[in-house]
Amino acid sequence: MRYITSFLVSLLVGVASANPHPACDQDDDHGNQKGPNQGPGQTLICPGLKTVDHGCIRYTRGFDVTGVTTEVDLTFPQIKDECDCIQECLKRLDSCANYVWKFSTSESVRSGHRTCTLYSNFNLPPTVNLSFNVDNSTNIQMLSPDNNPQKGGLVPQAFKDTNLNTTTDPDAVSGPVWALADGSVQC
Ligand SMILES: *[C@@H]1O[C@H](CO)[C@@H](O)[C@H](O)[C@H]1NC(C)=O
Ligand SMILES: *[C@@H]1O[C@H](CO)[C@@H](O)[C@H](O)[C@H]1NC(C)=O
Ligand SMILES: *[C@@H]1O[C@H](CO)[C@@H](O)[C@H](O)[C@H]1NC(C)=O
Repeated sequence: MRYITSFLVSLLVGVASANPHPACDQDDDHGNQKGPNQGPGQTLICPGLKTVDHGCIRYTRGFDVTGVTTEVDLTFPQIKDECDCIQECLKRLDSCANYVWKFSTSESVRSGHRTCTLYSNFNLPPTVNLSFNVDNSTNIQMLSPDNNPQKGGLVPQAFKDTNLNTTTDPDAVSGPVWALADGSVQC
């Protein structure tokens, strides 16, 4: 989902971690190959990550599957690529269930660096209505209308023009990070 100014739970993020920097996908990284979204299996990305598959095989390029509930916004230079982004989600398995690495603002396009946003919820399908038990919830805060709060829709496309509405960005990546009950992680 887009974020402009978040009124959500925005967790502060400290300095860049000293974690080893996992290597990234082996393709040309410019979305010119046939595309990991096609074919019988997806190309493994980020093979250094500590997950069941030693990397991620579940993701989409060029689209943003995330949905807003909680939000953590991370930027360059802490986040240099999609693997840094996924690694930050892995560090927050108690609050992160999916991530998106894309140009999220005009500023990010101008800087040439995609951002990393971590969420606990997915994009909702078009006709879903959510209801919340407000009385028994904690930390209730207003959602920014720009965050498309809990309103269903098709999975949005990622763009790389400054208006973020014209030139598609096939290199953007988003996907799930599932912390399984046996302690393993799939992505
Ligand atoms: C969501 O609410 C709208 C408007 O009340 C309704 O038309 C629609 O059927 C609801 N969707 C579902 C999945 O119940
Ligand atoms: C909130 O939780 C309490 C305790 O479980 C329950 O008694 C109460 O009915 C709940 N309130 C709502 C509005 O669901
Ligand atoms: C993209 O956004 C700009 C600025 O809001 C607007 O002027 C333009 O018409 C939009 N283009 C498309 C294709 O929606």
